[in-house]
Order: sequence, then C-alpha cells, then structure tokens
Amino acid sequence: MGTLRAFSLLALALSLLAVASTVSGHNITQILSDTPDYSSFNSYLSQTKLADEINSRTTITVLVLKNGAMSSLAGKHPLSVVKNALSLLVLLDYYDPLKLHQLSQGTTLTTTLYQTTGNAPGNLGFVNVTDLKGGKVGFGSAAPGSKLDSSYTKSVKQIPYNISVLEINAPIIAPGILTAPAPSSGGLSNITGLLEKAGCKTFASLLVSSGVLKTYVSTIEKGLTVFAPSDEAFRAKGVPDLTKLTQAEVVSLLDYHALAEYKPKGSLKTNKDAISTLATNGAGKYDLTTSTSGDEVILHTGVAPSRLADTVIDETPVVIFTVDNVLLPTELFGKSPSPSPSPAPAPEPVTAPTPSPAKSPSPAEAPTPAAASPPAPPEDETSPEGAPSDSPTSSEDSNAKNEAFHVNAPALFTALVVALAATSLLL
Ligand SMILES: *[C@@H]1O[C@H](CO)[C@@H](O)[C@H](O)[C@H]1NC(C)=O
Ligand SMILES: *[C@@H]1O[C@H](CO)[C@@H](O)[C@H](O)[C@H]1NC(C)=O
Ligand SMILES: *[C@@H]1O[C@H](CO)[C@@H](O)[C@H](O)[C@H]1NC(C)=O
Ligand SMILES: *[C@@H]1O[C@H](CO)[C@@H](O)[C@H](O)[C@H]1NC(C)=O
Repeated sequence: MGTLRAFSLLALALSLLAVASTVSGHNITQILSDTPDYSSFNSYLSQTKLADEINSRTTITVLVLKNGAMSSLAGKHPLSVVKNALSLLVLLDYYDPLKLHQLSQGTTLTTTLYQTTGNAPGNLGFVNVTDLKGGKVGFGSAAPGSKLDSSYTKSVKQIPYNISVLEINAPIIAPGILTAPAPSSGGLSNITGLLEKAGCKTFASLLVSSGVLKTYVSTIEKGLTVFAPSDEAFRAKGVPDLTKLTQAEVVSLLDYHALAEYKPKGSLKTNKDAISTLATNGAGKYDLTTSTSGDEVILHTGVAPSRLADTVIDETPVVIFTVDNVLLPTELFGKSPSPSPSPAPAPEPVTAPTPSPAKSPSPAEAPTPAAASPPAPPEDETSPEGAPSDSPTSSEDSNAKNEAFHVNAPALFTALVVALAATSLLL
C-alpha cells in the first residue's frame, strides 16, 4: 500500500471519527433553537455553560421555560444564581410524558444537576414530581413545606433514553436559591483563602508573591478558570525546582494554570480543541488539551497529564479546580534541558515505559513462554505501549499522547475498520 493511500485512509478514518463523536450525543442548544419561545432559556443555558453539562450527560430530563416564565429569573439575578435555578430544572433521570403518569404511589423525589454542584445543602437539590388529580403533573422543591408551584405543560422532544425535554409553566424555586450572594460580593474576593482551605497553600502563596493573583482577578468579569495544583503536587518527584526559574518563567508557569474564560467541568468534558491559557501570547502557545475517562477529565500539557481533582468553587463566571500535578507547559519544560539547568529536567518519561518499536512479547507476558495461545497479535491493539509507536512523537509528550490514545482507542479502531471497509469497496 502506497504512503499516499495510507495517508488518505488515515484522513478518512479521522473524519469518520469526527463525525462519530458529534453524532452520538445530543445538542440541547440545537433542540431548543427551533422554538423562539425558548430563546431566553436557551441563551441562559449557553451563558452559564449548562448546555455543555447537559450535552455531556445521558438519561436526563430538561424542564424548559417559555420566555414569559423565564422573565422572573432573567436579568433579575446574578448569572451564578440563574445557573443554580436552571440546574434545578435538569433532572438526572429520564421522564417522558408516559412515565410522569406512571410514578409509583404517584409521587417521587428526583436528583437534579443542582445537587451535584455542592452548592445545595440538605435535599435542596432534589425535586418533587407528583401526578396530581385530573392528569396534571406538579413539580416543586423537595424541601419540607414547599408547594408544587410548577406544572407540566407539554412535551418538547424525546431521544430515548438519553434526553427528554419537557415544558413547565414556572421555575422550581428551592428555599434560598434566589438570595445567594453574587460571587463578587461573596467569598470570591478572597481567592487565596479559598485555595488555602482546599489544600493549595503553595500555589496560593506563589500567586501572591509573583503578583499573578492580580492578573487572575483582572479577568474575573470576562470569566476565570483556575487549575490549582495541590501542595502534594508541588512536593512530587519530577517537579522542576522553581527557584531555578527566572521571575518571568514563574509568571508564565502560574499564568498557565488559568484561563480567561469560564469553563466548568461539563465544558471541559465536551471540549475538543486546544485551550488557550493566560500564558498564551505571541511568543508561545502555552495551551492545554483535554480528554475524558468516565466522569474524569484529564488535562494534557504535552509534557505530562494531570487529573482534574475537586471543584473548589463553581460560581459563574468563576470556577476553581484542584489538579493532581503541576501543569508543565512544553514552552518551558518540553525541550531538553535548555531553560532550567537543574539536575532532573525530564520529569515524567523516567517512570513511563518508553514505546519501543514492537518487541514481540511484553515482559508481563513472558512467564508463560510457548505453552500458551498462539493468537497473540490482538493484544498489541489494546496495549497502550504498542499503539503509537509508528507516530514520530517526541519522548516528552508520548506519555500524554499515550493516555489520550488509550481513551479514544475503541472509537478510533472502529473508525479505522469502517474506513478500511469503505476503501476496499472503492478498489
Ligand atoms: C445515546 O447516548 C449514547 C452515549 O452517548 C450514544 O452512543 C447514542 O448514540 C445515543 N442515542 C441516540 C439515539 O442519540
Ligand atoms: C449545538 O448546536 C448549536 C446551534 O445549532 C451550534 O452552534 C453548536 O456548535 C452545537 N454544539 C455542538 C457541541 O455541536
Ligand atoms: C411531594 O409533595 C407532595 C405535596 O407536598 C407530598 O404530598 C408528597 O409526599 C411529596 N412526595 C414525596 C416523595 O416526598
Ligand atoms: C482570606 O481567607 C483566609 C483564610 O480563610 C484568611 O486568613 C484571610 O484573612 C482572608 N483575607 C481577607 C482579605 O479576607
């Protein structure tokens, strides 16, 4: 097979992969865009990034409000408050019109997205769904003493059993949800205090001593996402000696840990592009890519991956996460030992098994010499070491690439098989 054909095969496979990943999920923005009456609701789903969260989940029900019903929320409260109120309208279960009328005992409590934010004390993140007499279905907060102030009006769309969209006539209001303080007037004025409480003292003090905290604060209005490495992350083996960096390099490193936009977890989960950071400028890309593994988000710098650990605070337009590793940009740490002449400049690859060009049996399989099964080849397919050995990646970022490849392997493999079948039909 010529290299040209191999190349077009790969291109075809990649385009199929791109199609596959957009076809499989639903797009709430798209679903609601057909109905002008939902434009306000839809716009707030986008502004608060709840749309990404909804698109990243399955088995959910979205209760939508017409523009008239949205007017009690829209423009009257900070975005963070509107987000909480709308999160309460995203039920983490699939209810189509039929199921609404078949609740056992005629009533149930159901979890909502609000419950998953950590902002909902007690059972404030639950919604009471009750099949009322005369075919009406009522919704209300599960908090004791709440009324069923909201009613089902009609079905908008069902994609069984991924997403059901139902219209209701009024927002569901949990006690206190509308009176929560806006982030600027609340705890957010003290970012370092929040970071210290979350176990990121080293990071917090670096932000203060370098002056980078001011840069973070200056972008809050536009949006701010922070990836704060834990204190353990700074103590980990392989973290470059920060005292060996110039002041400008420390600033770049800290700027690299934040984005000038609001990207909560749902947005990181659905993200497909390279993300610019505060360090991104004409002289360096300083960007990040993401991958997911189940519910987890993994950040890739090109040097080493890091897991998104906890959400410290998520109040639109600010979100602060803790991360397991210090994020090392390739611009500072990717290329050989030039920028920092410290004794241990190569952090991750030391522990990572280097992808050597396909030696037959991997050491793990060695103990069973010849006795075992002859059909060995398929194991190469699933092994993360075997796969990317043909691509000319530098050893620095092979670790991160391995991980990304590992996550996408089944989809890519399917796409390749389809592409192969397609090309063989053409020949
Ligand atoms: C439902 O979601 C799953 C998982 O994302 C996806 O594979 C499937 O294609 C979706 N079904 C429909 C009908 O969209
Ligand atoms: C969802 O649909 C909207 C409107 O059609 C579009 O702008 C947006 O890019 C879509 N999002 C995804 C993730 O496909
Ligand atoms: C839902 O609310 C109604 C009315 O307040 C109440 O009678 C019912 O017991 C509640 N359902 C559940 C499951 O708590
Ligand atoms: C910020 O929070 C920390 C820890 O909670 C506290 O010690 C500090 O006094 C606070 N600073 C301000 C300016 O409120």
